[in-house]
Amino acid sequence: MRLDVNDHAYELHCEVGTTLAEALRDELSLTGTKIACGEGHCGACTVLVDGAPVLSCITLAHAVGDAKVTTIEGLREHPMLRSFVRADALQCGFCTPGQVVSAVALVEARPEPTTEEIRHAMAGNLCRCGAYPKIEEAIRTWRD
Ligand code: FES
Ligand code: FES
Repeated sequence: MRLDVNDHAYELHCEVGTTLAEALRDELSLTGTKIACGEGHCGACTVLVDGAPVLSCITLAHAVGDAKVTTIEGLREHPMLRSFVRADALQCGFCTPGQVVSAVALVEARPEPTTEEIRHAMAGNLCRCGAYPKIEEAIRTWRD
């Protein structure tokens, strides 16, 4: 199967049933995408598929087809990443790749989201460290 990730086309030989998260991490060594719950509950595994946030732990790699996948590695130059660092919006950092990916999807659609829009868009991304106030600040100030 072919997978388009971060503007590179990869040829993979995944077994049917391989999740997108497993394909990214195990086949492509793109380990920025985290697997925590593995059941679609926490958002740690969020990636973009054609610009929309998707839970890669419950998405089959074969179902992605020709869509463009963007992982945290593909967002290195995005100002959102710097904004998370500037706002100190992380503690252990395990949830951070998924948080940044979801935040990027939000501001691409709504460059100046309200607090309510931020909370709504980020509701699927859990943070056990409770960094939510600073995550909101990072998203509010991403273009500063
Ligand atoms: S690891 Fe995918 S939602 Fe938790
Ligand atoms: S920073 Fe630790 S889980 Fe979010």
